[in-house]
Amino acid sequence: MSSNAIIVTGGAGFIGSNFVLEWIAAEKSPVINLDKLTYAGNLENLAGIKGDNRHRFVKGDIADRELVGALLREHQPRAVVHFAAESHVDRSIHGPGEFVQTNVVGTFELLEAVRGYWSGLADPARNDFRFLHVSTDEVYGSLGPNDPAFSETTPYAPNSPYAASKAASDHLARSYHHTYGLPVITTNCSNNYGPYQFPEKLIPLMILNAVKDKPLPVYGDGRNVRDWLYVSDHCEAVRFALKRGRPGATYNVGGNSEKTNVEVVKTVCAILDELRPDGAPHARLVAFVADRPGHDRRYAINAERIRSELGWAPRERFETGLRKTVGWYLDHMKWADNVTSGEYRNWIDLNYGTRT
Ligand code: NAD
Ligand code: DAU
Repeated sequence: MSSNAIIVTGGAGFIGSNFVLEWIAAEKSPVINLDKLTYAGNLENLAGIKGDNRHRFVKGDIADRELVGALLREHQPRAVVHFAAESHVDRSIHGPGEFVQTNVVGTFELLEAVRGYWSGLADPARNDFRFLHVSTDEVYGSLGPNDPAFSETTPYAPNSPYAASKAASDHLARSYHHTYGLPVITTNCSNNYGPYQFPEKLIPLMILNAVKDKPLPVYGDGRNVRDWLYVSDHCEAVRFALKRGRPGATYNVGGNSEKTNVEVVKTVCAILDELRPDGAPHARLVAFVADRPGHDRRYAINAERIRSELGWAPRERFETGLRKTVGWYLDHMKWADNVTSGEYRNWIDLNYGTRT
């Protein structure tokens, strides 16, 4: 008999911690949160549920099959929601090995542990179990300006080591459904933004640099396009997919909000001009730097399947979501200082030292 607990991997990272906080508030059933606490994982993200006995944090690696097997046997979860990954494209260019280890080997070991647990379940627990694999739109490659948006049938064409490692993990997850019948659901989402995003990513990096009067490094001509989704909308999409998704199906998740990087950075600057007029105009800090190797030009998501099958659509508009996000970072400068110590400074030297 399974319990109504779920296991979340990577629940101390950006999207995972938002998901866990919202799960405890919305669904109320217990969460076992397995996270290795790499540079990107921070228990401070979970301070809001400290002491809540519905949340149990376990420090560990998804590639540790024994540990995962023991957690599954102990907690008898009804689902595993898999966020844990190496997630930053630039880091995958400087060091792809970690991406293969966590995203490919780690996902494989996790799937093996889950398969062992799931195959020992009796119905209805076996039938009701779900493995929700969280993935990215980057597996589809890059679009031209007039190409139709990515749909679930767009062929995979990953261009960075990060995207390739996520594509490999998607294929493994798919194969566990087709070969063993494991009830896998995969979501492929566009760029998230919001509270607790590690400041190596575009939006938090730009907010924090602007506040500190540092240059705002825009890669190449700044006209690469991303589709932006507020993180709570992504978390809701994952909850919908878990509840109502078809085993074996994939769902694209997007914000219907395509922007060039320059537009995003200038909008951040305009919001800061209002909230921090002392530094205005913040756009004077924009600095075009050498491009990211293999930089995908455009991503866009056709999210019709998740809308029509599961009834999900994004709630937040980019303009309001971005304003909330800038406000959150201004109110959490101490969080930002804490997560950007030590290793992060080495990363900034490595990634940006050669670009100027
Ligand atoms: P993140 O880098 O902020 O967090 C990743 C978390 O995983 C961290 O807490 C880290 O400690 C943990 N982790 C890393 N390796 C681990 C391991 N071997 N074992 C256990 N835990 C480990 O990432 P994020 O931005 O929150 O992304 C979460 C997931 O969503 C990833 O799978 C990513 O590919 C996917 N995704 C992200 C975005 C985005 O815009 N950020 C968009 C679409 C999909
Ligand atoms: O599309 C979903 C993906 O979005 C996720 O799968 C990844 O985990 C997530 O990191 C994100 O990938 P991107 O590469 O799109 O995000 P990033 O924030 O690194 O960059 C966004 C855009 O901004 C991209 O075109 C590169 C550009 N950029 C980024 C940084 C860090 C800059 O111009 N300057 C920068 O300093």
